[in-house]
Amino acid sequence: GDATVALTADGARGTRSLLVQGRTQSWNGAAVDVTDVLVPGTTYTIGLWLRLPAGAGEAGLRVSVQRDVDGVASYETVTTVERVTSQWTQVVASYTPGRFDTASLYVESTGSLTDFLLDDVLVSGVTYTPDLSLPSVADALADDFPFGLGIEPVDTLGGRGDLAAHHAVQITPGNQMKPESVQPAEGTFTYGDADLMVDWALEHDMRVYGHTLVWHQQTPAWFFERDGAPLTTSTADQALLRDRLRTHIEAVADHFRDTYGEYGTPGNPIFAFDVVNEVIDESQPDGLRRSEWYRVLGASYVADAFRYARAAFGPDVLLFINDYNSEYPDKRAPYLRLVTDLLAQGVPVDGVGHQLHVEVGRSVPMIEDTIEAFEALPVTQAVTELDVSTYRHAGEQWATPPADRLLEQAYYYRDVLAMLKRHAASLESVTVWGLEDSRTWLRAGAAPLLFDGALQAKPAFWGVVDPSRIGATPTPTATPTPTPTATPTPTSTPTPTATPTVTPTP
Ligand code: XIL
Repeated sequence: GDATVALTADGARGTRSLLVQGRTQSWNGAAVDVTDVLVPGTTYTIGLWLRLPAGAGEAGLRVSVQRDVDGVASYETVTTVERVTSQWTQVVASYTPGRFDTASLYVESTGSLTDFLLDDVLVSGVTYTPDLSLPSVADALADDFPFGLGIEPVDTLGGRGDLAAHHAVQITPGNQMKPESVQPAEGTFTYGDADLMVDWALEHDMRVYGHTLVWHQQTPAWFFERDGAPLTTSTADQALLRDRLRTHIEAVADHFRDTYGEYGTPGNPIFAFDVVNEVIDESQPDGLRRSEWYRVLGASYVADAFRYARAAFGPDVLLFINDYNSEYPDKRAPYLRLVTDLLAQGVPVDGVGHQLHVEVGRSVPMIEDTIEAFEALPVTQAVTELDVSTYRHAGEQWATPPADRLLEQAYYYRDVLAMLKRHAASLESVTVWGLEDSRTWLRAGAAPLLFDGALQAKPAFWGVVDPSRIGATPTPTATPTPTPTATPTPTSTPTPTATPTVTPTP
């Protein structure tokens, strides 16, 4: 842009820094070409120092990367620092680039046009090699259910790709099939990253669980607007939104059929799709989330989405409804009610997904109660997004969890899997939401996955694959209050169940 850079006589740690001035757009800033620095699929630590000029107040600054692939630029946030002042502040963040032809690293602002200073930019990375002699998670669970990973394009590269392919027999694209990814503007469909994931799955003989056709998040605003103004509940606006719903679902179904062949044939690995995601809100009288879909169309959009999906995908793709916190009785009830009602109306719901974004200590019997409740219905089920945060509550924070917490997490994974295995007949698959801890969607330090940032197996991995390797359950550190409805886990050493005090919204 129009910005200029100059050396100053003031350094974060030395005697010079770079002053950025004359910015006329928030994305103007100091940029450096990192095409020859970054290797796609490698995780880097990016560190730098930032401050505003004296007297400039405070402003939000952002460290970003531009990646150009086949002439198309994409912009990724490495980290955002909300309140930079005139004091030097050090910023450290982790970043894993996907594929690129050229790439640049830059500092911009979140909105203001402030001048700023930066210093000591350090990009460091290590190429990690996974140990592929370890037993595979999918093999360990093969008698029970297919094991999946919710992953991103970068997780298919290099050692990360080797690790993912070794342990999983199915994937869920973490973001690449969401409405904002496949239809960013009305009638403009972009399937590059989605196809990349499906291609990779095919190369590795894996199945693909599609995610997601309808959601209140990661859905572009245009869906709910006409000429830039919010849709109303007029008959015409309702018809328009219903039309967009059907068009979107049909376009996605047609694309993967055109590209990979008919569903249910060997060339097309997509066997299931989340049709609607997170439509329950237990605090509403009717149990339904007040999303834009609901505001314009009322409850009817859920049934319509399933009907459109069945018509578009045919009989060989399992149609799922998916939600988080479904283990809590307050949420389980409206979830169960909705699915029961849909089935009673003949709506083609094949499967019920439980995301299972949990933390150590969340009651396993409560999860089992939910699975059992849905076993009464003619549906299959899936664990769609399992991860186990080592943070017990929002007040905890660390760079890496203490060793005893990692062990507790391993016992938790062990106990959840033991419970799920008892219900293997009702479970279509079990998917963990992410490959390794440096790239979890949860806040840094949560370390909720089976592998660490160096691609090495954590105790949690052994909790799933071979619990004898982590020994017996240690004496619990907390003294939780037992949940009245909890049934003891039939393991020899029952894990006490805590009454949940927090209900985190993913
Ligand atoms: C998350 C992705 O993992 C993130 O990369 C993205 O920034 C936000 O969405 N429930 C869902 C998933 O159904 O789609 C969400 O995935 C996690 C919560």
